[in-house]
Amino acid sequence: MKDAAPQPIHLADYRPPSHLVETVALTFRLSPGATRVLSRIRFRANPAGLENGNLRLDGEGLRLISCAIDGVALTALDYLLTPEGLTVPAERLPAQSFLWEAEVEIDPAGNTALEGLYMSGGMYCTQCEAEGFRKITFYPDRPDVMAPFTVRIEGDASVLLSNGNPGASGPGWAEWHDPWPKPAYLFALVAGDLVAHRDAFTTMSGRAVDLNIWVRPGDEGKCAYAMDALKRSMRWDEEVYGREYDLDVFNIVAVDDFNMGAMENKGLNIFNSKYVLASPETATDRDYDFIESIVAHEYFHNWTGNRITCRDWFQLCLKEGLTVFRDQQFSADTRSAAVQRIEDVLQLRARQFREDAGPLAHNVRPDSYVEINNFYTATVYEKGAEVIGMLKRIVGAQEYRAALDEYFRRHDGQACTIEDWLAVFQDVTGRDLSQFKRWYTQAGTPRLTAEWQVAGDRLHLRLAQVVPPTPDQPLKEPVVIPIAMGLLAADGTELLPETHVILDSRETVLDFDLAKMAAQAGIALPDRVIPSLLRGFSAPVILDAALTRADRLVLLAHDPDPFNRWEAGRSLMRETLMGMLTGGARDPALFDALGRLLADERLDAAFRALCLALPSEDDLAQAAHDGGLVPDPTAIHATRKAFQSAMASALHGPLAALYDAKDPGPDYSPDAAQAADRALRNAALALLTRIEGPDRARAHYDAATNMTDEIAAFTALLEAGDTDVAQRFHDRWKDDRLVMDKWFMAQITHAAPDRAVATARALTDHPLFDWTNPNRFRSVIGGLTAGNPAGFHDPSGAGYAFLADWLIRLDAKNPQTAARMSTAYETWARYDADRQDMIRAELDRIAATEGLSRDLSEMVGRIRG
Ligand code: PHE
Ligand code: ZN
Repeated sequence: MKDAAPQPIHLADYRPPSHLVETVALTFRLSPGATRVLSRIRFRANPAGLENGNLRLDGEGLRLISCAIDGVALTALDYLLTPEGLTVPAERLPAQSFLWEAEVEIDPAGNTALEGLYMSGGMYCTQCEAEGFRKITFYPDRPDVMAPFTVRIEGDASVLLSNGNPGASGPGWAEWHDPWPKPAYLFALVAGDLVAHRDAFTTMSGRAVDLNIWVRPGDEGKCAYAMDALKRSMRWDEEVYGREYDLDVFNIVAVDDFNMGAMENKGLNIFNSKYVLASPETATDRDYDFIESIVAHEYFHNWTGNRITCRDWFQLCLKEGLTVFRDQQFSADTRSAAVQRIEDVLQLRARQFREDAGPLAHNVRPDSYVEINNFYTATVYEKGAEVIGMLKRIVGAQEYRAALDEYFRRHDGQACTIEDWLAVFQDVTGRDLSQFKRWYTQAGTPRLTAEWQVAGDRLHLRLAQVVPPTPDQPLKEPVVIPIAMGLLAADGTELLPETHVILDSRETVLDFDLAKMAAQAGIALPDRVIPSLLRGFSAPVILDAALTRADRLVLLAHDPDPFNRWEAGRSLMRETLMGMLTGGARDPALFDALGRLLADERLDAAFRALCLALPSEDDLAQAAHDGGLVPDPTAIHATRKAFQSAMASALHGPLAALYDAKDPGPDYSPDAAQAADRALRNAALALLTRIEGPDRARAHYDAATNMTDEIAAFTALLEAGDTDVAQRFHDRWKDDRLVMDKWFMAQITHAAPDRAVATARALTDHPLFDWTNPNRFRSVIGGLTAGNPAGFHDPSGAGYAFLADWLIRLDAKNPQTAARMSTAYETWARYDADRQDMIRAELDRIAATEGLSRDLSEMVGRIRG
């Protein structure tokens, strides 16, 4: 029998804790199968506590050895112990303050969920966000309980680490003290035979900080880039936000088995090794890019997340939205801002718009959840960042900085809410943000429509918005949409330089003096005007503007805003592809325009590479659905390929010229300029291989001296049907885990759709397929579901069954990663009745599995609807 369904937790039910923690002292006696954890926790009654006065401690999977209050041992009659925790009734508690002591035993070696204290590659490590600390000891595991921690670690590893500053140590033991009060989710411990890549940083007030990146012996040569990114992040946060680091050491540890990207534990960040280790031979430019932004992200959390944390998990976007926004700003400052913006928007649309359009749509600040791990989503992170970007646009850069200064001043050391955040902005800027707050409390992607009309010497621009219904939110109120815009004449002349308008009602009509604008631009009164709307993607909405193809070609050639130039090209491509799907023809004007753009050496090579990229198969499926069609994944795949071949033929000359011109040579550097040249050259290679055959890609593969070129040639050859290259790649890289993740993934992603499931299945039988490693699992299962949509949606339903089999298997060991991967099913409602039935049958099969985790059962239930 299945257990009763776990009950959702509601934001509206928040109550302050009945007890606060003054200090925590922990001792760990490490042993793989039986680690002892001794805790000494000083509690005091919370004057603001609205709870019943009982001492409520979370605890899961702990073997309680003993516990005591103020030195008096408790017996089983003194408390209530359940699988979720331990409660001491108020009448057994000293009134004001008391010392809780407990000893528990836990089993790190048997911990396959990778939450709490676990082992990875022979080392001990922890992951406590969101609710993993309760698997380490009994504690009020909620972010509004903050305390300074002292930790003693006893174990035979050579390196013993925890949060804060190092204290005394000796052979087999070490002590750490973290003076900054923190919630338990920021606790971390690492023990292993590790080596450090060391460096140092002097903060703006002149304090010296030791920096260490800890890795397994043999990997120390792959840390330089992460270290460089760390130092640049520390400097940037000082310069741009006035934020200084606050401990004597900053440690980063790389671990191979990790459910997410990385974790911002105070002074001891723990990273998925994929986002630390890099060498030119093993990491691509994209990997370097990720390392830079994730190192920055985790570092920036020191202020936005750690010094100021969240009151409860509903407020997750308070730290995540803001920290993503900050890491995006950092990347924009470090690389090309326009390219960064396009990439961020591509991600937002691919992941967050998709989420918002389906059964998993939820508010940036959710109202309820069953399992908080299921809410580390693109909506909380990426849309959360967009909301901050809009706020900054609306109040302006100076007021934004003033508000952030006030936020840090007012709330340092506190656990806060979105209301606290918005109140700071209201107080500093004097604006009423009550309507703006709807961005946090309404789900769904707003649709913005724009129509216009020239009437004599005036231009009327009508803007209207609709926020679509989402699960449990049928009716929506209008939101505040900041719109950066300009106006162009039909010959590309700029009529109106960039202006900012705000749409906060359902509809508005703007009136422009066309005669005056034409006179200023020195042209005759035009009878046609081309609005360039939502420049820089100034709001996370779907824009439906009444632009003709001719208008878009003008924008593609002349828009002063690079984002909208790219957007015009992309929408032309999408339209063309959609037209081809329904039997229409290609438009040579688009290839001509792309050809001119490719050859324009004034344009950033990275920008040109982005302009060459087609909308993804998933984008096209959504576009078909939005257009009232039922998407056929097989046809979408074939059409996209046909378009690429046509593009390659039409642009053969410029592509071949770029291929020859953009070789940065053998001295590899991951910097933006070189990476841009490689991106453009490798995009050209992929297209050229389609029409020329494999020779160029073979030569590229043999000549490659870095992983960016090697993987580009590898995937081009897979696409071309090369049957030997997989073995060659394997033989060269079989001992490198991170490179082999790419090997697994590429073969599935680049398999013909009707071969994709068989390829994935065969690879799950490969001796190197360790499915308990989340990176490897994602490479293979995600390689199919995200990397080869036509294969995943194979008409036989084999892809759906393959995913379900693996989710069921993984769920028993690692619910968090299993639940996250189940989002592959979230788009089921787009497809035909047969596919819908097959997906529903798999969801039902998963739901009926005995002992299914709370994580996966919540996801399957929400997706099923
Ligand atoms: N807080 C981490 C980040 O955003 C993400 C994370 C969540 C990691 C939960 C592990 C577990 O950087
Ligand atoms: Zn984060």
